Amino acid sequence: MDESPPKIKAVICADGRLQNVKNTFETKYGESPLFFAYAPGRVNLIGEHIDYCGYSVLPMAIEQNVLAAVSVNNSGTIVLSNTNPQYKDFSVSCSEDIVIDRENPMWHYYFLCGVKGIQEKFGITPLVGMSCVIDGTIPPSSGLSSSSALVCCAGLVTMEANQKSLPKVELAEICTKCERYIGTEGGGMDQSISYLAERGMAKLIEFQPLRATDVKLPDEAVFVISNCCVEVNKAASSHYNIRVVECRIATKMLARARKLDLSKLLRLADVQTELKASLKQMLALVEEVLHPEPYSREEICRLLEITAEQFSTELLSTNTQHVTHFRLHQRARHVYGEADRVLQFKSVCESQPDEFIQLLGELMNQSHASCRDLYECSCPELDQLVDICLSSGAVGSRLTGAGWGGCAVSMVPCEKVETFLQAVREAYYLPDPRRAAMEKQSLFVSKPGGGAAVLLEE
Ligand code: GLA
Repeated sequence: MDESPPKIKAVICADGRLQNVKNTFETKYGESPLFFAYAPGRVNLIGEHIDYCGYSVLPMAIEQNVLAAVSVNNSGTIVLSNTNPQYKDFSVSCSEDIVIDRENPMWHYYFLCGVKGIQEKFGITPLVGMSCVIDGTIPPSSGLSSSSALVCCAGLVTMEANQKSLPKVELAEICTKCERYIGTEGGGMDQSISYLAERGMAKLIEFQPLRATDVKLPDEAVFVISNCCVEVNKAASSHYNIRVVECRIATKMLARARKLDLSKLLRLADVQTELKASLKQMLALVEEVLHPEPYSREEICRLLEITAEQFSTELLSTNTQHVTHFRLHQRARHVYGEADRVLQFKSVCESQPDEFIQLLGELMNQSHASCRDLYECSCPELDQLVDICLSSGAVGSRLTGAGWGGCAVSMVPCEKVETFLQAVREAYYLPDPRRAAMEKQSLFVSKPGGGAAVLLEE
């Protein structure tokens, strides 16, 4: 588990995609790449919006990934190009400070986050010059973690190019931290699964310390991803950080009610640890302490005995300064309930009781209802898609990733897959020309893929 990402010898010309990226590289830079590296996207099966509260999540890597072809040189510059012409070329000097513009989250900033993370870890000045071509197959802004895959790929590329080595767990932690340069306070699930995934297995990802445990999924069912075709970019809006802030405030309120040391407790899981309580007891505490009506800033400041100034600087983030009301009861209920469902999901996978597909499906359905009603991170299109998936033969269906658009993941018994895909196609995609045009990359069966790796030409 504490090894570096694997270095795989590959016959580049045997793989159409690698060969294409190699050709693009050679045309662009007039030389051959020295190595390739890739990092996969992910689909989260259960455990939404709880990683940043300190709770375990249960994702698997998908086959789609971000691939980079790289050469190393002494040009003193990092040059980036993308096979998708929508993403413009970019270059940065190795001797300048890497600056990430949060106001304007362009594609290359995610790459620079990964570069900066490795640079800071090893104190490398200057970085070695690199020329890179990036090729991504993860649908962007769809909740399948295309941005974290780019950060992870960049981290791996920078490490390899500068002849450093780190265990996967450390790479995942570095990439979780450095992606925050873009402004979102992500929790670490995406980067962890991108590095720690293994083919054929979903993983229970636990935090502090970070570790990943195999979860064997049922053979009798497959997971189908479907995109509702509403794009989400969590760095470009404040929805995500508002939820992070609401959970942070709820943590303080629960800690205060139980007379715990507020300054030490930052995440909802910390309160549970401190109280040595079960998740059921935490749910009861939420009912007892937090009211369902939204909390105003004034009420929070009064209860926590802090000034408006402290509230802004210590509890809010840069892009949540405008928020006036906070739904603490609903958010905390979701988090403790969802944390419990993750553990149930894992134990059902392990014990495989009779009807276990139904049990897993039921947990996924409860997760979606909680995301929709308590965490309010769904959207009408995603809810409609989830309903269609359920009426088309899925035993469980839920939004996956940050939400507010993007994808649903559905568990479908193997014998129903073909009829399921056809029914969803007819009910959700074909009636709308825009969705119909996107259907091919929007509706697909996904098997657990492997983690990030470096590829060397054989
Ligand atoms: C995004 C974040 C993750 C996680 C999910 C929601 O993907 O990057 O850390 O919080 O949203 O579960």
